[in-house]
Amino acid sequence: MIQFDQVKKRYPGGHEALNSVSFELETGAFAFLTGHSGAGKSTLLKLVMLMERPTHGQVLINGRNLSRLHKSQIPHYRRNIGVVFQNHHLLFDRSVYDNVALPLLVSGYPARDIGRRVRAALDKVGLLDKERQNPVELSGGEQQRVGIARAVVHTPRILLADEPTGNLDPALSEEIMNLFRDFNDIGVTVLIATHDIALISRMGHRVLTLENGEMLSSASAASASLVQPEIVQPEIVQPEIVTPGMAEQTTTAKPDLPHG
Ligand SMILES: Nc1ncnc2c1ncn2[C@@H]1O[C@H](COP(=O)(O)OP(=O)(O)OP(=O)(O)O)[C@@H](O)[C@H]1O
Ligand SMILES: [Mg+2]
Repeated sequence: MIQFDQVKKRYPGGHEALNSVSFELETGAFAFLTGHSGAGKSTLLKLVMLMERPTHGQVLINGRNLSRLHKSQIPHYRRNIGVVFQNHHLLFDRSVYDNVALPLLVSGYPARDIGRRVRAALDKVGLLDKERQNPVELSGGEQQRVGIARAVVHTPRILLADEPTGNLDPALSEEIMNLFRDFNDIGVTVLIATHDIALISRMGHRVLTLENGEMLSSASAASASLVQPEIVQPEIVQPEIVTPGMAEQTTTAKPDLPHG
C-alpha cells in the first residue's frame, strides 16, 4: 500500500511542487498519475523511491513511515521498488545484458543469481536474443523494454513508471502497458505517470490527477467522457512475487523470493 498523508514538497528556491497531497493506493492496484507539465507527478514518484524527502507530511509504504527510515536503510528499501524512466537512462557503452544486470551488481546480489535473473527479465520483455547487443542498436520501443527489464530484474513489489511511453507510437505504448499489466497480474502494485489521456481512457484504471501540486479527488480526476471513473480494484493478497517467465527460465535454481 502506498499512502500519502498531507504531503508537502517545497524545493530549495521556494517552489512548492506538492501541496497537502493525501491518497491511498492499495497493494496490487494499477493506477495512472496524470496532470499538466509541472503538476508534481515526477516529484510524487521521487518521494516514493526516496530520491526526495517531503517538507511536511508522511509517506507510508506498506505501513512503514519513510521519514523514519535511516539513510543506511534506503538501499534495502529500494529493493522493493522498480522504476522506469521516460528516457530510460540506459548506458550506451554497455550491452543490454549489462544494463539490466546493473541494479543487481549495485545491490550486491550473488553472481550465480545475476545471470538467471537478467535472462528471466529479458525473456519477459521479449529481448532475450538481444542480450549481447548495445542499446544503441535497438529501436526506441526495444530500448524502453530494456528499461523495464532493468526495473523488474530484482522482482520489486512496487513498479513506478514516469512517462514510460512518452516517445512511443500507440501500438508500442499498448505493448508496454500490457507488460505492466502482466506484472500487476502477479500482484505488483503499478503506478504510471503519463500525459497520455487516450491511453488512460483505453485502459480504464484508477486515475490520480495532480493540478499545481494538489491532488484532485478521483471523482473530478478527468472528464467522464475521456476517462472511466475510479475502478475499485479487488484486494489482491500479495503472493510470492516472481517475475513472470522467471520460473520457466530457470534451469538449475528454483524461482526465489524477492530480497528484503
Ligand atoms: N529539483 C528541483 N528543484 C526545484 N524545483 C523543482 C525540482 N524538480 C521539480 N521542480 C519543480 O517542481 C514542480 C513539479 O515538477 P515535477 O517534475 O514534479 O512535475 P511533472 O508533473 O512531473 O511535470 P512533467 O509532466 O513536465 O514531467 C515544477 O514546477 C518544477 O519546476
Ligand atoms: Mg515529470
